[in-house]
Formats: sequence, C-alpha cells, structure tokens
Amino acid sequence: MTVHKTPIAILISGRGSNMRSLIEACAQPDFPASVALVLSNKEDAAGLEYAREAGLRAEAIPHRLFGKDREAHERAIDARLKEAGVEFVCLAGYMRLLTPFLTDAWKGRMINIHPSLLPLFPGTHTHERALEAGVRIHGCTVHHVTAGMDEGPIIGQAAVPVLSDDTVDELAARVLEQEHVLYPMALKKILTDEGLPIRAYKALIVT
Ligand code: GAR
Repeated sequence: MTVHKTPIAILISGRGSNMRSLIEACAQPDFPASVALVLSNKEDAAGLEYAREAGLRAEAIPHRLFGKDREAHERAIDARLKEAGVEFVCLAGYMRLLTPFLTDAWKGRMINIHPSLLPLFPGTHTHERALEAGVRIHGCTVHHVTAGMDEGPIIGQAAVPVLSDDTVDELAARVLEQEHVLYPMALKKILTDEGLPIRAYKALIVT
C-alpha cells in the first residue's frame, strides 16, 4: 500500500539536528510526510548545508532584511511555503517568536519541539532552569503552535531522568536524544491520527 506523503516544511535557525531526524523519517517509504522545503531565518544555519547535501530545497529568508517588521518577514515565509506547495510546517529549533499572522495562517498545521516538559520552562535556557529548580524528571514536548509562546496544545512528550551530578550539557544531550525520537513520532501521529506508543514507563524516578 502506498502511503500518502504530506509535503512539509522544516523551519530551522541553527544546527538542525531535529531537522535531520525528520528528514531521515521522511525518507522512509511508509512515513506519511515528505520534505518539500527547509527554511531558515539565518543564511549561515549549519542545517541548511546538510539539507542541500541530502538533495532538498533549502533556503534562507534572513530576518535582518526586514528590520523590526516581524510580520513582513513572516509574509515572505508564508509566500515561500505556499509557492513550494507546503501543507504542514515543523519548527525545529526555529528561534524566532512568531506573530499571530503566521500562527493564524497555519493554525492546526504547524507544530514545534521544545526542550522541556511544558508547561514547565517555556522560553530559553530550559536545561539550566530545570537543574536550578531541582526537578528529577525533565524532557521535551511537541506541541501545536499558537500565538502564545510555547503554549499550544501538547501532542507528545518524552521524559528523561535528571541525575544528581548532571551538567547542563549532559542533561541537554539526554533530552536531545529523545527529541530525535519524539518528533517524527508526533508528526506521524498528527498526520495519521495514530496513537503514540508508550515506549518506556517508569512511575518513580529517584536520582
Ligand atoms: C532543540 O533542543 C529544540 O528543542 C530547541 O532548540 C534546539 C535546536 O536544536 N528549540 C527551542 O528551544 C524552541 N523553543 P537542533 O537545531 O539541533 O534541532
């Protein structure tokens, strides 16, 4: 049976490791999406080069060209998404706050990955803040994008333990490994309405 592949765009700002995990998933014949476009707000985002080497269309629309006019930048993004035939958008380390123009235009068709168990630790420096707060479980979240920052309905989450001697980098690496598993699963769930499997369930974490 041939699977219908929804054409997606992946928006990045930097190294693009989550983008890679989505590209790899999309390369599987039975995955319900294909990458139509990778877009960055930075010309020097390392992820753009990787995407081009993978044979994908990968472009930058630098936000600096638009000064303080965020909506003008988003209108340019929206036009490029439409021109490329994109039907669904995945933010993957896209570090720009979006205005209601883009979130309304793609309502229900735009998701994001965030490195914390939302609603805990929205915004930046999530791993530092998790360590400071002393939480013993941390993780990542894939959620729908709405106008409020990191606020949209949650699609899936992955949890990791926080170890007592963790550094920020160690904790970030443990979470990132799970981001790469969670994001393709959550995208598949949204596109096919399949439930997420419970992969590993630990009721009690003491570290
Ligand atoms: C990831 O950890 C992602 O969850 C985070 O940025 C990193 C990007 O890494 N996103 C946010 O903080 C968005 N609020 P990547 O470029 O290697 O995917």
